This record gives sequence, C-alpha cells and structure tokens, in this order.
Amino acid sequence: MSSHFVSVEGLSKVYPSKARDLIVFEDVNIGIDKGEFVCIIGHSGCGKSTILNVMAGLEIPSSGTVIMDGKEATGPSLDRGVVFQNYSLLPWLTALQNVSFGVKARWPQWSRSEVEAHSSRFLSMVGLSKSLHQKPSELSGGMRQRVSIARAFATSPKLLLLDEPFGALDALTRGMIQDELIKIWSETQQTVFMITHDVDEAILLADRVLLMTNGPSAHVAESVKISLPRPRDRGTIIDDPGYYKIRNYLVNFLVKRSGELSGSNGGGGGSTRQVDPANEGNSSDEQPQPAAYRAAI
Ligand SMILES: Nc1ncnc2c1ncn2[C@@H]1O[C@H](COP(=O)(O)OP(=O)(O)O)[C@@H](O)[C@H]1O
Ligand SMILES: [Mg+2]
Repeated sequence: MSSHFVSVEGLSKVYPSKARDLIVFEDVNIGIDKGEFVCIIGHSGCGKSTILNVMAGLEIPSSGTVIMDGKEATGPSLDRGVVFQNYSLLPWLTALQNVSFGVKARWPQWSRSEVEAHSSRFLSMVGLSKSLHQKPSELSGGMRQRVSIARAFATSPKLLLLDEPFGALDALTRGMIQDELIKIWSETQQTVFMITHDVDEAILLADRVLLMTNGPSAHVAESVKISLPRPRDRGTIIDDPGYYKIRNYLVNFLVKRSGELSGSNGGGGGSTRQVDPANEGNSSDEQPQPAAYRAAI
C-alpha cells in the first residue's frame, strides 16, 4: 500500500481499433504527498489531460487505479476541484452563480448571503469583483477562465487538478493569478496537480515536475525536484544559480529525451527516475534555446 496522499497506480489508456490498438500511455505511476504542488509536462497528445480526468473521476482508465486519502477515486467528488483547459461554465448562470453553485453544494447549511459573500471573495481574488453578475457570453476568454479558477478554489477541495489553466490568459493576468494560486496553496495546504506546457511556470510553482515521454505508449520517465527556496519571486528567481540548471534540464528533456525515451520499453517500465538538477551538477550551464524548445512542442 502506498503512503502517498494521492496515488496513481499502473494507469494505462488504450483505444481499441480494428487495425491496431492505440496505447496512449501505459503503466503510469504517480505519488503525490499531502500539500505538494506537482506539475506535469509532456508533448501534446501524450495523455496528460486523460490522466488528470481519470484523477478527477471523469474518465475511466483501461487499467490501473487512483487512490486519494485511502479511497479509490471513482466518479467526481467535491474533494477534487478541476479547472479545465477550455473553461466549462454553465452559460445560463452569472459568474457569481457559477461559483455559488459549487459553494452551496459544499456547505449546504450556509445561508444565501454567506454563500454569495464567500463566492464574491474568490471572484475578487481573480480580479472579477466588477463582473459578478455577467454571464459567460458577456466575458472575455481570459475572464471566463478566471471564473473557473475561482470556482475550483472556492470549494476548498483537498486536491486541485489544473489542466493548463493559464494558457488563455495574457502575461500580466497570468502572473497575477499564479501569485494568487501560490498564496492560496501555501495558506490552505491544498494538494495541486497541474498540467502546463510552460517550463518557467512549472519552475516558479512546483515542488516537482513530472516529465512524460512522447506517445504512443507514453510514460512518466522522470520526477524533477525543483529545489529552489520559497517564497519564489518571478523577478529574482532567475538569479538563483539552480534556476538555469533546472530550466536547461527540462528544456533538454522536451527537445530531445522525451522522443528518445518514447515507446513501451524506453524508460524501464513504470519506474520513474528521481532527479535534482540544481544539486546534482548533471546539467550544463549553457543558456537554453527557447526557439528550439518552442518549435518542438
Ligand atoms: N476517442 C478517442 N479515440 C482515439 N484516440 C483518442 C480518443 N480520445 C483521445 N484520443 C487520443 O488520446 C491521446 C491523449 O490525449 P490527451 O490526454 O488530450 O493528451 P494531452 O493532454 O497530453 O495533449 C491523444 O493522442 C488523442 O489523439
Ligand atoms: Mg491536454
């Protein structure tokens, strides 16, 4: 039995087909401790969203299980809050009603004004205090995503599952919400599992970054420790000597090794190698090549 708060065990997803079954990923094993912030990075199509949806209880794996807090996670639960890649709000409800909906379900004994005050507070946190009574169709894409973020946070789930939540936001808003996320996370001891394609975002936020090989038959090859002290500041983090070691390590994985290690035998089955680039001196001091990296994902 695993002692982790969240334990993904032997997960695989296969789409059967007449010609040849498509094995999206196989033997994925992930352990997350309580209060940990874990990011996962991998090329498009390797199965990140599928893994997150299985953890949310919204998708059924071909094999394997997800255990949270000692119980198998089957079906959705208020203990697991999800922010999807493409914001999924109820279009007929206002921003405030979209957030209140979950808050009411979470704390049924609360009065209407308590529910609304709590929900408004989370909407203000993401900068939407002036848009409480607007419907999704009246909000920009970035604003809708902020409503989904407020909705997930407002119910204080034990596990926050975030699928590229900041992808649609402009840089300024993204930075503001990343800071809010870290603030809420450090205050509430919530556990976070987040998909991102942004290496710098992962280094700023995560305790560990999981690296997935390319599909088909993708797997989690490595768990990279982000051993930079907290609190981390986006302005000064780049001055830490460990920063570029970690960044280069992650970029190198995405550009080169995610492909080299792909395939069913690439990474030694379901085992995940633990690495700590900032302290192992196993990465060069060369500056990363953002253009090559961007071209590769
Ligand atoms: N119904 C389906 N039939 C066949 N393949 C599918 C189906 N749904 C998803 N896939 C495949 O599953 C893979 C994983 O998708 P996804 O989890 O969204 O990846 P990621 O989030 O890493 O980009 C993709 O390669 C996609 O083509
Ligand atoms: Mg995805």
